[in-house]
Amino acid sequence: MNTSSSSSSFPLFIFAAIIFLRCLNPTGAATCHPDDEAGLLAFKAGITRDPSGILSSWKKGTACCSWNGVTCLTGDRVTALTVAGQSDVAGSFLSGTISPSLAKLQHLDGIYFTDLKNITGSFPQFLFRLPKLIYVYIENNRLSGPLPVNIGSLSQFEAFSLEGNRFTGPIPSSISNLTRLSQLNLGNNLLTGTIPLGIANLKLMSSLNLGGNRLTGTIPDVFKSMTELRSLTLSRNRFSGNLPPSIASLSPILRFLELGQNNLSGTIPSYLSRFKALDTLDLSRNRFSGIVPKSFANLTKIFNLDLSHNLLTDPFPELFVKGIESLDLSYNQFHLKMIPKWVTSSPIIFSLKLAKCGIKMRFDDWKPAETYFYDFIDLSENEISGSPARFLNQTEYLVEFRAAGNKLRFDMGKLKFAKTLKTLDLSRNLVFGKVPATVAGLKTLNVSRNHLCGKLPATKFPASAFAGNDCLCGSPLSPCKV
Ligand SMILES: *[C@@H]1O[C@H](CO)[C@@H](O)[C@H](O)[C@H]1NC(C)=O
Ligand SMILES: *[C@@H]1O[C@H](CO)[C@@H](O)[C@H](O)[C@H]1NC(C)=O
Ligand SMILES: *[C@@H]1O[C@H](CO)[C@@H](O)[C@H](O)[C@H]1NC(C)=O
Ligand SMILES: *[C@@H]1O[C@H](CO)[C@@H](O)[C@H](O)[C@H]1NC(C)=O
Ligand SMILES: *[C@@H]1O[C@H](CO)[C@@H](O)[C@H](O)[C@H]1NC(C)=O
Ligand SMILES: *[C@@H]1O[C@H](CO)[C@@H](O)[C@H](O)[C@H]1NC(C)=O
Repeated sequence: MNTSSSSSSFPLFIFAAIIFLRCLNPTGAATCHPDDEAGLLAFKAGITRDPSGILSSWKKGTACCSWNGVTCLTGDRVTALTVAGQSDVAGSFLSGTISPSLAKLQHLDGIYFTDLKNITGSFPQFLFRLPKLIYVYIENNRLSGPLPVNIGSLSQFEAFSLEGNRFTGPIPSSISNLTRLSQLNLGNNLLTGTIPLGIANLKLMSSLNLGGNRLTGTIPDVFKSMTELRSLTLSRNRFSGNLPPSIASLSPILRFLELGQNNLSGTIPSYLSRFKALDTLDLSRNRFSGIVPKSFANLTKIFNLDLSHNLLTDPFPELFVKGIESLDLSYNQFHLKMIPKWVTSSPIIFSLKLAKCGIKMRFDDWKPAETYFYDFIDLSENEISGSPARFLNQTEYLVEFRAAGNKLRFDMGKLKFAKTLKTLDLSRNLVFGKVPATVAGLKTLNVSRNHLCGKLPATKFPASAFAGNDCLCGSPLSPCKV
Protein backbone atom coordinates (compact mmCIF):
# COMPACT_ATOMS: atom_id res chain seq x y z
CA MET A 1 0.00 0.00 0.00
CA ASN A 2 1.33 3.46 -0.92
CA THR A 3 0.56 5.73 1.99
CA SER A 4 3.38 8.25 1.67
CA SER A 5 2.43 10.81 -0.97
CA SER A 6 -0.77 10.20 -2.91
CA SER A 7 -2.67 12.63 -0.74
CA SER A 8 -1.68 14.72 2.21
CA SER A 9 -4.75 13.71 4.18
CA PHE A 10 -4.18 9.97 3.70
CA PRO A 11 -1.62 9.56 6.52
CA LEU A 12 -4.02 11.38 8.78
CA PHE A 13 -6.75 8.96 7.74
CA ILE A 14 -4.48 5.99 8.53
CA PHE A 15 -3.66 7.53 11.87
CA ALA A 16 -7.34 8.01 12.63
CA ALA A 17 -8.08 4.47 11.49
CA ILE A 18 -5.38 3.09 13.79
CA ILE A 19 -6.78 5.06 16.72
CA PHE A 20 -10.22 3.76 15.83
CA LEU A 21 -9.01 0.14 15.63
CA ARG A 22 -7.17 0.52 18.93
CA CYS A 23 -10.42 1.64 20.50
CA LEU A 24 -12.19 -1.39 19.07
CA ASN A 25 -9.42 -3.67 20.24
CA PRO A 26 -8.47 -2.85 23.81
CA THR A 27 -5.36 -5.03 23.60
CA GLY A 28 -3.96 -2.37 21.30
CA ALA A 29 -2.52 -4.48 18.50
CA ALA A 30 -3.83 -4.03 15.00
CA THR A 31 -1.75 -6.93 13.77
CA CYS A 32 -0.06 -9.81 15.49
CA HIS A 33 3.21 -11.64 15.52
CA PRO A 34 3.52 -14.14 12.63
CA ASP A 35 4.44 -16.97 15.03
CA ASP A 36 1.29 -16.36 17.03
CA GLU A 37 -0.88 -16.17 13.94
CA ALA A 38 0.63 -19.41 12.60
CA GLY A 39 0.13 -21.19 15.93
CA LEU A 40 -3.48 -20.04 16.24
CA LEU A 41 -4.33 -21.01 12.66
CA ALA A 42 -2.78 -24.44 13.24
CA PHE A 43 -4.98 -24.78 16.32
CA LYS A 44 -8.02 -23.87 14.25
CA ALA A 45 -6.98 -26.40 11.59
CA GLY A 46 -6.95 -29.14 14.26
CA ILE A 47 -10.61 -28.43 15.05
CA THR A 48 -12.84 -30.58 12.87
CA ARG A 49 -16.22 -29.32 14.06
CA ASP A 50 -17.23 -25.93 15.45
CA PRO A 51 -21.02 -25.90 15.07
CA SER A 52 -21.60 -22.65 16.98
CA GLY A 53 -18.77 -20.77 15.24
CA ILE A 54 -16.59 -20.20 18.32
CA LEU A 55 -13.54 -19.74 16.04
CA SER A 56 -15.28 -18.00 13.14
CA SER A 57 -13.41 -14.72 13.72
CA TRP A 58 -10.05 -16.48 13.37
CA LYS A 59 -9.10 -15.50 9.78
CA LYS A 60 -5.64 -15.43 8.23
CA GLY A 61 -4.34 -11.93 7.61
CA THR A 62 -6.63 -10.24 10.14
CA ALA A 63 -5.47 -8.91 13.49
CA CYS A 64 -5.25 -12.05 15.59
CA CYS A 65 -5.18 -10.08 18.85
CA SER A 66 -8.80 -9.21 18.20
CA TRP A 67 -9.94 -12.76 17.43
CA ASN A 68 -12.54 -14.19 19.77
CA GLY A 69 -10.77 -15.50 22.89
CA VAL A 70 -7.33 -14.12 22.04
CA THR A 71 -5.70 -11.64 24.44
CA CYS A 72 -2.49 -9.68 23.77
CA LEU A 73 -1.46 -7.75 26.84
CA THR A 74 2.04 -6.93 25.62
CA GLY A 75 2.17 -5.41 22.15
CA ASP A 76 1.66 -7.89 19.34
CA ARG A 77 2.18 -11.09 21.36
CA VAL A 78 -0.65 -13.35 22.43
CA THR A 79 -0.63 -13.73 26.22
CA ALA A 80 -3.85 -15.63 26.88
CA LEU A 81 -6.10 -17.94 24.94
CA THR A 82 -9.67 -18.51 26.09
CA VAL A 83 -11.77 -20.94 24.11
CA ALA A 84 -14.90 -21.82 26.01
CA GLY A 85 -18.01 -23.77 25.18
CA GLN A 86 -21.15 -23.06 27.16
CA SER A 87 -22.06 -26.14 29.12
CA ASP A 88 -25.78 -25.35 28.90
CA VAL A 89 -25.97 -24.45 25.21
CA ALA A 90 -26.43 -27.35 22.80
CA GLY A 91 -23.99 -27.19 19.88
CA SER A 92 -21.55 -25.03 21.85
CA PHE A 93 -18.55 -27.35 21.68
CA LEU A 94 -15.55 -28.18 19.52
CA SER A 95 -14.43 -31.52 18.05
CA GLY A 96 -10.83 -32.27 17.13
CA THR A 97 -7.43 -32.16 18.79
CA ILE A 98 -5.23 -29.43 20.29
CA SER A 99 -2.47 -28.63 17.79
CA PRO A 100 1.08 -28.84 19.22
CA SER A 101 1.81 -25.72 17.13
CA LEU A 102 0.38 -23.69 20.02
CA ALA A 103 4.00 -23.93 21.25
CA LYS A 104 4.69 -21.07 18.82
CA LEU A 105 2.79 -18.74 21.16
CA GLN A 106 5.89 -18.20 23.26
CA HIS A 107 4.40 -15.36 25.32
CA LEU A 108 1.35 -17.25 26.52
CA ASP A 109 0.77 -17.05 30.26
CA GLY A 110 -2.74 -18.48 30.33
CA ILE A 111 -4.64 -21.20 28.50
CA TYR A 112 -8.33 -21.60 29.21
CA PHE A 113 -9.96 -24.37 27.15
CA THR A 114 -13.18 -25.14 28.98
CA ASP A 115 -16.37 -27.09 28.21
CA LEU A 116 -15.32 -27.86 24.64
CA LYS A 117 -16.56 -31.41 25.37
CA ASN A 118 -15.25 -33.18 22.27
CA ILE A 119 -11.53 -32.29 22.17
CA THR A 120 -9.59 -35.57 22.18
CA GLY A 121 -5.94 -36.60 22.31
CA SER A 122 -3.36 -37.23 24.99
CA PHE A 123 -1.76 -34.87 27.50
CA PRO A 124 -0.73 -31.74 25.52
CA GLN A 125 3.08 -31.94 25.37
CA PHE A 126 3.41 -28.41 24.00
CA LEU A 127 2.73 -27.13 27.54
CA PHE A 128 6.35 -28.05 28.31
CA ARG A 129 7.58 -25.65 25.64
CA LEU A 130 5.88 -22.48 26.91
CA PRO A 131 8.19 -20.92 29.53
CA LYS A 132 5.83 -18.10 30.54
CA LEU A 133 2.77 -20.29 30.98
CA ILE A 134 1.43 -20.15 34.55
CA TYR A 135 -2.37 -20.64 34.34
CA VAL A 136 -3.75 -23.69 32.56
CA TYR A 137 -7.39 -24.73 32.62
CA ILE A 138 -8.20 -27.55 30.18
CA GLU A 139 -11.55 -28.61 31.62
CA ASN A 140 -14.46 -30.74 30.46
CA ASN A 141 -12.95 -32.05 27.26
CA ARG A 142 -12.12 -35.62 26.34
CA LEU A 143 -8.34 -35.77 26.73
CA SER A 144 -7.13 -39.22 27.76
CA GLY A 145 -4.10 -41.36 28.51
CA PRO A 146 -1.63 -41.00 31.36
CA LEU A 147 -0.30 -37.81 32.92
CA PRO A 148 3.40 -37.48 31.94
CA VAL A 149 5.89 -38.62 34.62
CA ASN A 150 7.80 -35.36 34.18
CA ILE A 151 4.73 -33.21 34.88
CA GLY A 152 6.83 -31.71 37.70
CA SER A 153 8.93 -29.80 35.21
CA LEU A 154 5.96 -27.46 34.68
CA SER A 155 7.24 -25.92 37.89
CA GLN A 156 6.33 -22.34 36.96
CA PHE A 157 2.60 -23.19 36.95
CA GLU A 158 0.44 -21.35 39.49
CA ALA A 159 -2.95 -22.80 38.58
CA PHE A 160 -3.48 -26.11 36.81
CA SER A 161 -6.80 -27.75 36.06
CA LEU A 162 -7.43 -30.83 33.95
CA GLU A 163 -10.85 -31.43 35.49
CA GLY A 164 -13.43 -33.42 33.57
CA ASN A 165 -11.25 -35.31 31.10
CA ARG A 166 -10.44 -39.02 30.85
CA PHE A 167 -6.88 -39.16 32.12
CA THR A 168 -5.89 -42.56 33.49
CA GLY A 169 -3.07 -44.00 35.56
CA PRO A 170 -1.37 -42.59 38.63
CA ILE A 171 -0.72 -39.01 39.73
CA PRO A 172 3.03 -38.75 38.95
CA SER A 173 5.18 -38.26 42.05
CA SER A 174 6.98 -35.37 40.32
CA ILE A 175 3.82 -33.34 41.02
CA SER A 176 5.66 -32.48 44.25
CA ASN A 177 7.77 -30.13 42.13
CA LEU A 178 4.86 -27.84 41.26
CA THR A 179 5.58 -25.73 44.32
CA ARG A 180 4.13 -22.50 42.96
CA LEU A 181 0.67 -23.98 42.48
CA SER A 182 -2.14 -22.39 44.40
CA GLN A 183 -4.80 -24.39 42.55
CA LEU A 184 -4.62 -27.99 41.41
CA ASN A 185 -7.72 -29.61 39.98
CA LEU A 186 -7.51 -33.14 38.58
CA GLY A 187 -11.14 -33.90 39.48
CA ASN A 188 -13.46 -36.08 37.39
CA ASN A 189 -10.89 -38.12 35.53
CA LEU A 190 -10.07 -41.84 35.78
CA LEU A 191 -6.90 -41.56 37.86
CA THR A 192 -5.82 -44.55 39.96
CA GLY A 193 -3.25 -45.27 42.67
CA THR A 194 -2.59 -43.29 45.82
CA ILE A 195 -1.98 -39.59 46.47
CA PRO A 196 1.81 -39.04 46.27
CA LEU A 197 3.22 -38.01 49.67
CA GLY A 198 5.28 -35.30 47.97
CA ILE A 199 2.07 -33.31 47.54
CA ALA A 200 2.98 -31.98 50.99
CA ASN A 201 5.50 -29.73 49.17
CA LEU A 202 2.71 -27.72 47.59
CA LYS A 203 2.67 -25.19 50.39
CA LEU A 204 0.91 -22.40 48.49
CA MET A 205 -2.07 -24.58 47.65
CA SER A 206 -5.34 -22.80 48.21
CA SER A 207 -7.60 -25.22 46.38
CA LEU A 208 -6.96 -28.94 45.85
CA ASN A 209 -9.49 -31.08 43.98
CA LEU A 210 -8.84 -34.75 43.24
CA GLY A 211 -12.54 -35.71 43.49
CA GLY A 212 -14.30 -38.10 41.14
CA ASN A 213 -11.38 -40.41 40.31
CA ARG A 214 -10.50 -43.97 41.32
CA LEU A 215 -7.84 -43.11 43.86
CA THR A 216 -7.18 -45.61 46.64
CA GLY A 217 -5.32 -45.97 49.92
CA THR A 218 -5.59 -43.66 52.89
CA ILE A 219 -5.68 -39.88 52.69
CA PRO A 220 -2.01 -39.06 53.39
CA ASP A 221 -1.08 -36.96 56.39
CA VAL A 222 0.24 -34.08 54.30
CA PHE A 223 -1.79 -31.05 55.31
CA LYS A 224 0.36 -29.52 58.04
CA SER A 225 2.34 -27.53 55.48
CA MET A 226 -0.67 -26.37 53.46
CA THR A 227 -1.42 -23.32 55.52
CA GLU A 228 -3.26 -21.55 52.69
CA LEU A 229 -5.72 -24.35 51.90
CA ARG A 230 -9.31 -23.12 51.63
CA SER A 231 -10.89 -25.88 49.62
CA LEU A 232 -10.17 -29.62 49.73
CA THR A 233 -12.18 -32.01 47.58
CA LEU A 234 -11.39 -35.73 47.63
CA SER A 235 -14.97 -36.99 47.21
CA ARG A 236 -16.00 -39.85 44.93
CA ASN A 237 -12.84 -41.95 45.14
CA ARG A 238 -11.97 -45.17 46.96
CA PHE A 239 -10.09 -43.77 49.94
CA SER A 240 -10.27 -45.78 53.13
CA GLY A 241 -9.09 -45.44 56.73
CA ASN A 242 -9.42 -42.55 59.15
CA LEU A 243 -9.09 -38.83 58.48
CA PRO A 244 -5.41 -37.93 58.82
CA PRO A 245 -4.60 -35.85 61.94
CA SER A 246 -2.97 -33.03 59.97
CA ILE A 247 -6.37 -31.98 58.60
CA ALA A 248 -6.74 -30.36 62.04
CA SER A 249 -4.09 -27.79 61.10
CA LEU A 250 -6.37 -26.43 58.37
CA SER A 251 -8.79 -25.06 60.96
CA PRO A 252 -8.12 -21.32 60.57
CA ILE A 253 -9.16 -20.91 56.94
CA LEU A 254 -10.56 -24.09 55.38
CA ARG A 255 -13.99 -23.34 53.91
CA PHE A 256 -14.82 -26.46 51.85
CA LEU A 257 -14.11 -29.99 52.98
CA GLU A 258 -15.61 -32.56 50.65
CA LEU A 259 -14.79 -36.20 51.33
CA GLY A 260 -18.10 -37.86 50.40
CA GLN A 261 -18.46 -41.20 48.60
CA ASN A 262 -15.32 -42.94 49.77
CA ASN A 263 -14.78 -45.75 52.24
CA LEU A 264 -13.55 -43.62 55.14
CA SER A 265 -14.13 -44.87 58.66
CA GLY A 266 -13.62 -44.03 62.31
CA THR A 267 -15.39 -41.33 64.27
CA ILE A 268 -15.92 -37.74 63.16
CA PRO A 269 -13.05 -35.88 64.82
CA SER A 270 -14.08 -33.13 67.24
CA TYR A 271 -11.34 -30.87 65.93
CA LEU A 272 -13.62 -30.18 62.95
CA SER A 273 -15.67 -27.98 65.26
CA ARG A 274 -12.71 -25.57 65.48
CA PHE A 275 -12.98 -24.87 61.73
CA LYS A 276 -14.36 -21.37 62.17
CA ALA A 277 -14.56 -20.63 58.43
CA LEU A 278 -16.08 -23.98 57.42
CA ASP A 279 -18.93 -23.38 55.00
CA THR A 280 -19.35 -26.85 53.45
CA LEU A 281 -18.71 -30.22 55.08
CA ASP A 282 -19.49 -33.35 53.07
CA LEU A 283 -18.66 -36.67 54.71
CA SER A 284 -21.57 -38.52 53.06
CA ARG A 285 -21.49 -42.14 51.87
CA ASN A 286 -18.61 -43.35 53.98
CA ARG A 287 -18.50 -45.60 57.03
CA PHE A 288 -18.11 -42.99 59.76
CA SER A 289 -19.49 -44.26 63.07
CA GLY A 290 -20.12 -43.07 66.61
CA ILE A 291 -21.62 -39.73 67.54
CA VAL A 292 -21.32 -36.32 65.91
CA PRO A 293 -19.26 -34.29 68.39
CA LYS A 294 -21.29 -31.99 70.66
CA SER A 295 -18.76 -29.27 69.85
CA PHE A 296 -20.24 -29.05 66.34
CA ALA A 297 -22.43 -26.45 68.04
CA ASN A 298 -19.49 -24.13 67.41
CA LEU A 299 -19.74 -24.46 63.62
CA THR A 300 -21.82 -21.33 63.36
CA LYS A 301 -20.91 -20.60 59.74
CA ILE A 302 -21.73 -23.97 58.25
CA PHE A 303 -24.12 -23.61 55.30
CA ASN A 304 -23.95 -27.06 53.74
CA LEU A 305 -23.70 -30.15 55.90
CA ASP A 306 -23.98 -33.63 54.41
CA LEU A 307 -23.39 -36.57 56.73
CA SER A 308 -25.83 -38.92 54.96
CA HIS A 309 -25.25 -42.65 54.44
CA ASN A 310 -22.90 -43.32 57.34
CA LEU A 311 -23.24 -45.29 60.57
CA LEU A 312 -23.63 -42.30 62.90
CA THR A 313 -25.64 -42.66 66.12
CA ASP A 314 -27.62 -40.49 68.59
CA PRO A 315 -27.58 -37.93 70.01
CA PHE A 316 -27.23 -35.40 67.20
CA PRO A 317 -26.04 -32.11 68.74
CA GLU A 318 -28.06 -28.92 68.67
CA LEU A 319 -26.33 -26.50 66.30
CA PHE A 320 -26.26 -22.72 66.65
CA VAL A 321 -25.80 -22.00 62.99
CA LYS A 322 -27.62 -18.83 61.96
CA GLY A 323 -28.88 -20.18 58.67
CA ILE A 324 -28.26 -23.63 57.28
CA GLU A 325 -28.80 -23.74 53.50
CA SER A 326 -28.56 -27.43 52.85
CA LEU A 327 -28.67 -30.33 55.31
CA ASP A 328 -28.57 -34.07 54.72
CA LEU A 329 -28.46 -36.45 57.66
CA SER A 330 -30.31 -39.27 55.88
CA TYR A 331 -29.67 -42.98 56.35
CA ASN A 332 -27.68 -43.05 59.58
CA GLN A 333 -28.85 -44.47 62.89
CA PHE A 334 -30.36 -41.25 64.22
CA HIS A 335 -33.66 -40.94 66.11
CA LEU A 336 -34.23 -37.20 65.88
CA LYS A 337 -37.96 -37.45 66.77
CA MET A 338 -38.55 -33.87 65.46
CA ILE A 339 -37.17 -31.78 62.63
CA PRO A 340 -34.55 -29.85 64.65
CA LYS A 341 -35.40 -26.26 65.67
CA TRP A 342 -32.19 -24.87 64.17
CA VAL A 343 -33.37 -26.25 60.84
CA THR A 344 -36.95 -25.02 61.10
CA SER A 345 -35.76 -21.51 61.99
CA SER A 346 -33.31 -21.15 59.09
CA PRO A 347 -34.28 -18.17 56.93
CA ILE A 348 -32.34 -19.44 53.89
CA ILE A 349 -32.67 -23.23 53.75
CA PHE A 350 -33.25 -24.69 50.28
CA SER A 351 -32.49 -28.38 50.73
CA LEU A 352 -33.59 -30.55 53.67
CA LYS A 353 -32.96 -34.28 53.61
CA LEU A 354 -33.75 -36.23 56.76
CA ALA A 355 -34.70 -39.64 55.36
CA LYS A 356 -34.75 -42.47 57.92
CA CYS A 357 -33.85 -40.15 60.78
CA GLY A 358 -36.42 -41.49 63.26
CA ILE A 359 -38.73 -38.47 62.97
CA LYS A 360 -42.13 -39.03 64.61
CA MET A 361 -44.19 -35.90 64.25
CA ARG A 362 -47.27 -34.48 62.56
CA PHE A 363 -46.38 -32.66 59.38
CA ASP A 364 -48.91 -29.98 60.29
CA ASP A 365 -46.90 -29.18 63.44
CA TRP A 366 -43.89 -28.18 61.38
CA LYS A 367 -43.89 -24.40 60.90
CA PRO A 368 -40.70 -23.50 59.02
CA ALA A 369 -39.55 -19.86 59.21
CA GLU A 370 -39.53 -19.75 55.42
CA THR A 371 -40.92 -21.96 52.68
CA TYR A 372 -40.01 -19.71 49.78
CA PHE A 373 -36.48 -20.99 49.02
CA TYR A 374 -37.17 -24.70 49.40
CA ASP A 375 -36.02 -26.73 46.35
CA PHE A 376 -35.52 -30.22 47.77
CA ILE A 377 -37.18 -32.09 50.62
CA ASP A 378 -36.64 -35.73 51.49
CA LEU A 379 -38.34 -36.97 54.64
CA SER A 380 -38.78 -40.58 53.45
CA GLU A 381 -38.80 -43.55 55.82
CA ASN A 382 -39.85 -41.76 58.99
CA GLU A 383 -43.06 -41.88 61.04
CA ILE A 384 -44.50 -38.55 59.97
CA SER A 385 -48.31 -38.33 60.14
CA GLY A 386 -50.84 -35.68 59.14
CA SER A 387 -50.71 -33.68 55.94
CA PRO A 388 -48.07 -31.75 53.97
CA ALA A 389 -50.83 -29.94 52.01
CA ARG A 390 -50.50 -26.59 53.76
CA PHE A 391 -46.72 -26.67 53.42
CA LEU A 392 -46.78 -27.67 49.74
CA ASN A 393 -49.27 -24.91 48.97
CA GLN A 394 -46.76 -22.38 50.40
CA THR A 395 -43.70 -23.40 48.40
CA GLU A 396 -42.86 -21.50 45.23
CA TYR A 397 -39.74 -23.16 43.88
CA LEU A 398 -39.94 -26.71 45.19
CA VAL A 399 -38.47 -29.21 42.71
CA GLU A 400 -38.48 -32.43 44.69
CA PHE A 401 -40.70 -33.68 47.52
CA ARG A 402 -40.03 -37.17 48.82
CA ALA A 403 -41.91 -38.57 51.78
CA ALA A 404 -42.26 -42.29 50.96
CA GLY A 405 -42.71 -44.71 53.83
CA ASN A 406 -44.43 -42.44 56.37
CA LYS A 407 -47.96 -42.22 57.83
CA LEU A 408 -49.20 -39.22 55.88
CA ARG A 409 -52.99 -39.15 55.64
CA PHE A 410 -54.66 -36.49 53.46
CA ASP A 411 -56.91 -36.03 50.44
CA MET A 412 -54.65 -36.05 47.42
CA GLY A 413 -57.40 -34.64 45.18
CA LYS A 414 -57.06 -31.28 46.97
CA LEU A 415 -53.25 -31.16 46.83
CA LYS A 416 -51.74 -27.97 45.37
CA PHE A 417 -48.05 -27.72 44.65
CA ALA A 418 -45.59 -25.36 42.98
CA LYS A 419 -45.43 -25.39 39.17
CA THR A 420 -41.69 -26.03 39.53
CA LEU A 421 -42.24 -29.47 41.15
CA LYS A 422 -40.66 -32.31 39.17
CA THR A 423 -40.58 -35.21 41.62
CA LEU A 424 -43.31 -36.27 44.04
CA ASP A 425 -42.86 -39.50 45.99
CA LEU A 426 -45.64 -40.30 48.45
CA SER A 427 -45.52 -44.06 48.14
CA ARG A 428 -46.27 -46.24 51.20
CA ASN A 429 -48.40 -43.74 53.13
CA LEU A 430 -52.12 -43.47 53.98
CA VAL A 431 -53.05 -40.96 51.28
CA PHE A 432 -56.69 -41.11 50.07
CA GLY A 433 -58.90 -39.41 47.45
CA LYS A 434 -58.20 -39.07 43.73
CA VAL A 435 -54.99 -38.48 41.82
CA PRO A 436 -55.27 -34.87 40.55
CA ALA A 437 -54.69 -34.05 36.86
CA THR A 438 -51.89 -31.63 37.88
CA VAL A 439 -49.48 -34.58 38.39
CA ALA A 440 -49.21 -34.87 34.60
CA GLY A 441 -46.66 -32.01 34.68
CA LEU A 442 -44.24 -33.94 36.93
CA LYS A 443 -41.19 -35.87 35.71
CA THR A 444 -41.39 -38.53 38.43
CA LEU A 445 -44.38 -39.61 40.50
CA ASN A 446 -44.85 -42.44 42.94
CA VAL A 447 -48.10 -42.80 44.88
CA SER A 448 -47.99 -46.61 45.11
CA ARG A 449 -49.33 -48.38 48.22
CA ASN A 450 -51.74 -45.76 49.54
CA HIS A 451 -55.57 -45.64 49.71
CA LEU A 452 -56.22 -43.73 46.49
CA CYS A 453 -59.31 -44.36 44.41
CA GLY A 454 -60.99 -43.32 41.16
CA LYS A 455 -60.03 -42.83 37.54
CA LEU A 456 -56.43 -41.86 36.86
CA PRO A 457 -55.71 -38.71 34.84
CA ALA A 458 -53.76 -39.16 31.58
CA THR A 459 -50.03 -39.39 32.48
CA LYS A 460 -46.85 -41.03 31.22
CA PHE A 461 -46.04 -42.79 34.53
CA PRO A 462 -45.69 -46.60 34.70
CA ALA A 463 -48.18 -48.82 36.52
CA SER A 464 -45.76 -49.31 39.44
CA ALA A 465 -46.23 -45.60 40.29
CA PHE A 466 -49.89 -46.33 41.12
CA ALA A 467 -49.81 -49.99 42.25
CA GLY A 468 -51.23 -51.19 45.56
CA ASN A 469 -53.99 -48.62 46.07
CA ASP A 470 -57.61 -49.24 47.06
CA CYS A 471 -59.48 -48.63 43.83
CA LEU A 472 -57.49 -46.70 41.22
CA CYS A 473 -58.40 -47.50 37.63
CA GLY A 474 -57.68 -46.43 34.08
CA SER A 475 -54.44 -46.49 32.10
CA PRO A 476 -51.77 -47.64 32.98
CA LEU A 477 -53.87 -49.74 35.45
CA SER A 478 -56.87 -51.79 34.34
CA PRO A 479 -59.83 -49.95 32.80
CA CYS A 480 -62.47 -48.51 35.13
CA LYS A 481 -65.66 -50.56 35.43
CA VAL A 482 -68.70 -48.69 34.10
C1 LIG B 1 -16.74 -35.93 18.51
O1 LIG B 1 -15.54 -36.17 17.81
C2 LIG B 1 -15.50 -37.42 17.11
C3 LIG B 1 -14.14 -37.61 16.50
O2 LIG B 1 -13.35 -36.50 16.62
C4 LIG B 1 -16.60 -37.43 16.05
O3 LIG B 1 -16.62 -38.68 15.40
C5 LIG B 1 -17.95 -37.17 16.73
O4 LIG B 1 -18.95 -37.03 15.74
C6 LIG B 1 -17.89 -35.87 17.54
N1 LIG B 1 -19.14 -35.72 18.27
C7 LIG B 1 -19.96 -34.70 18.05
C8 LIG B 1 -21.18 -34.63 18.90
O5 LIG B 1 -19.72 -33.85 17.22
C1 LIG C 1 11.73 -29.76 39.37
O1 LIG C 1 11.87 -28.38 39.05
C2 LIG C 1 13.17 -27.96 38.71
C3 LIG C 1 13.14 -26.48 38.41
O2 LIG C 1 12.43 -25.79 39.38
C4 LIG C 1 13.67 -28.74 37.52
O3 LIG C 1 15.00 -28.41 37.25
C5 LIG C 1 13.56 -30.24 37.78
O4 LIG C 1 13.89 -30.98 36.63
C6 LIG C 1 12.15 -30.62 38.20
N1 LIG C 1 12.06 -32.00 38.57
C7 LIG C 1 11.16 -32.84 38.03
C8 LIG C 1 11.15 -34.23 38.55
O5 LIG C 1 10.37 -32.50 37.18
C1 LIG D 1 -13.58 -50.45 52.85
O1 LIG D 1 -12.57 -50.46 53.85
C2 LIG D 1 -12.53 -51.64 54.62
C3 LIG D 1 -11.43 -51.48 55.64
O2 LIG D 1 -11.63 -50.32 56.38
C4 LIG D 1 -12.25 -52.84 53.71
O3 LIG D 1 -12.31 -54.02 54.47
C5 LIG D 1 -13.31 -52.89 52.60
O4 LIG D 1 -12.99 -53.90 51.69
C6 LIG D 1 -13.37 -51.57 51.87
N1 LIG D 1 -14.47 -51.60 50.92
C7 LIG D 1 -14.32 -51.21 49.66
C8 LIG D 1 -15.54 -51.30 48.80
O5 LIG D 1 -13.26 -50.79 49.21
C1 LIG E 1 -17.03 -23.83 71.58
O1 LIG E 1 -15.73 -23.25 71.61
C2 LIG E 1 -15.36 -22.67 72.85
C3 LIG E 1 -13.98 -22.10 72.72
O2 LIG E 1 -13.73 -21.62 71.45
C4 LIG E 1 -15.38 -23.73 73.93
O3 LIG E 1 -15.07 -23.15 75.19
C5 LIG E 1 -16.74 -24.38 73.99
O4 LIG E 1 -16.70 -25.44 74.92
C6 LIG E 1 -17.13 -24.91 72.64
N1 LIG E 1 -18.49 -25.40 72.68
C7 LIG E 1 -18.78 -26.68 72.63
C8 LIG E 1 -20.24 -27.05 72.70
O5 LIG E 1 -17.91 -27.52 72.49
C1 LIG F 1 -53.36 -22.31 49.35
O1 LIG F 1 -53.03 -21.00 49.74
C2 LIG F 1 -53.96 -20.01 49.40
C3 LIG F 1 -53.44 -18.66 49.86
O2 LIG F 1 -52.07 -18.55 49.72
C4 LIG F 1 -55.29 -20.29 50.04
O3 LIG F 1 -56.23 -19.35 49.60
C5 LIG F 1 -55.74 -21.68 49.67
O4 LIG F 1 -56.91 -22.00 50.38
C6 LIG F 1 -54.67 -22.70 49.99
N1 LIG F 1 -55.10 -24.01 49.50
C7 LIG F 1 -54.98 -25.12 50.21
C8 LIG F 1 -55.42 -26.40 49.56
O5 LIG F 1 -54.46 -25.12 51.32
C1 LIG G 1 -42.72 -46.76 43.53
O1 LIG G 1 -42.31 -47.18 44.81
C2 LIG G 1 -42.38 -48.58 45.00
C3 LIG G 1 -42.00 -48.91 46.44
O2 LIG G 1 -42.20 -47.86 47.30
C4 LIG G 1 -41.46 -49.28 44.03
O3 LIG G 1 -41.55 -50.67 44.16
C5 LIG G 1 -41.82 -48.88 42.61
O4 LIG G 1 -40.86 -49.42 41.72
C6 LIG G 1 -41.81 -47.37 42.48
N1 LIG G 1 -42.27 -47.01 41.15
C7 LIG G 1 -41.77 -45.98 40.48
C8 LIG G 1 -42.30 -45.69 39.12
O5 LIG G 1 -40.87 -45.24 40.95
